[in-house]
Amino acid sequence: MNQQIEDRKQESQRFQMRVLVHFGGLLPLVLLIGSYVRDELGFNPVEAALQKTGQIAAVFLVLSLAITPLRKLLKLPLLRYLRKPLGLYAAFYAALHFLTFAWWDYGLDFGLIWAEIVAKPFIIIGALALLILAVLAATSFRSVQRKMGKKWVQLHRLTYLAAILVIAHFLLAVKGNLLTLQGNYTFPLVLGGVLVVLLLMRLPGIRKNN
Ligand code: HEM
Repeated sequence: MNQQIEDRKQESQRFQMRVLVHFGGLLPLVLLIGSYVRDELGFNPVEAALQKTGQIAAVFLVLSLAITPLRKLLKLPLLRYLRKPLGLYAAFYAALHFLTFAWWDYGLDFGLIWAEIVAKPFIIIGALALLILAVLAATSFRSVQRKMGKKWVQLHRLTYLAAILVIAHFLLAVKGNLLTLQGNYTFPLVLGGVLVVLLLMRLPGIRKNN
């Protein structure tokens, strides 16, 4: 009887976490569409949408990596239900970011897209990150996880590589001078700083103590 009550309690908590993560995951999209409809994206809405979808994807990606250390630190096992959906939302917004670039901005004109890639090689770094996120999303199902076993865990460590690539892509995308930090570098530097802390927490000596 007690076990049944415990199971039901856990199921209800899991449901609440799911509602919370989907609310948080879809809210930025609703706000972005709202800004567009109300004509509040500025004089260049495509560029604004490109930047916002990229920023949202980057935040979700770093958040998904922060879940495990936060779960251990705060001793909140329920947080584990957030990691996968946050990663999937990162991939979703990254896909929207790519569509905004290739479809909305360049009308799928591959000649123009190629010219832009040649002019801005940081796009290749973003494309590599997107490729990794797509593979991780495609293999995120529990059935695939069960089939792949240990290899799945190794494959999904690529999330860290994707995050490093995204921060590099972000830093290089900002209009300014990265060497003198003249430009709007606060956001990518803060996000990069969080990522460095998360990577340091994975070092064996530090990890053992957590
Ligand atoms: C094929 C894949 C990708 C393409 C073609 C692409 C393209 C671009 C372009 C053209 C910009 C410059 C926007 C501007 O300021 O005018 C940009 C910026 C950015 N991208 Fe990507 N990107 C890709 C992948 C990604 C991924 C996977 C992420 C994150 C998960 C991402 C996050 C960002 C961020 C955060 C910015 C900076 C936004 C800002 O200036 O505030 N990108 N991307």
